[in-house]
Amino acid sequence: MIVAIDGPAGTGKGTVSKLIAQRMNFTYIDTGAMYRCITLKMIRNNIEITELGKIQELLNNTSIDFENAFDDEGNYFQKVFLDGEDVTEEIRTPKVNERVSPYSNEPIIRSHLVKMQKEYASSKDIIMEGRDITTVVFPDAEVKIYLDATPEERANRRYKELVAKGVETTYEETLEAINKRDYNDRTKPVGALKIAEGATIVDTTTLTIEEVYESLRKIILEHGYIEP
Ligand code: DC
Repeated sequence: MIVAIDGPAGTGKGTVSKLIAQRMNFTYIDTGAMYRCITLKMIRNNIEITELGKIQELLNNTSIDFENAFDDEGNYFQKVFLDGEDVTEEIRTPKVNERVSPYSNEPIIRSHLVKMQKEYASSKDIIMEGRDITTVVFPDAEVKIYLDATPEERANRRYKELVAKGVETTYEETLEAINKRDYNDRTKPVGALKIAEGATIVDTTTLTIEEVYESLRKIILEHGYIEP
């Protein structure tokens, strides 16, 4: 079975996908991490977004792999490997955050990563989340979900996360960044975020993560998935 999830930043796509992967035995693919890997490799190799020939060569010589892992408290997370190197932490640093959104607009990068994403799903039960999974990568997925929440609630969640990490910022700044990202995600020429035909919309604004998990689990079971 393929479970495809899209939605704007801060709706809990990654968190709920990990829960489903762990508890219902799906393989989780975080496509945002893939755009982050390519961005990191371009930064390291000083490749500008206009250098299309170099970007194509870089894409042809890049591998991205995921590995299941558990932290000290026993929580499941995913390690991300770029050409065999563990880049799990580095792809979440400010230098990558700042550039990943414009880099993910480039059609050459998008079409290459979409091809890789389709290949991951050839022989497993997959849960894949991103911005164009229900529309471009798997428009025929058995389960298509659009996760949503108000920008204010998403900014609130993100702000709390940043404060917990010791990052100095304000709620207003965080909300502005969320609005900017939403705008870019929704207006990119290829792979823009939109609600797919046949997708179930789940509004997470007032839900806890366990409640989001339960509503998605119900949808997946209704589509005939048998839990292990
Ligand atoms: O979900 P995330 O924040 O890790 O995603 C990183 C960036 O990649 C974000 O700017 C949106 C973009 N992205 C995309 O364009 N298409 C996807 N399928 C996944 C992410």
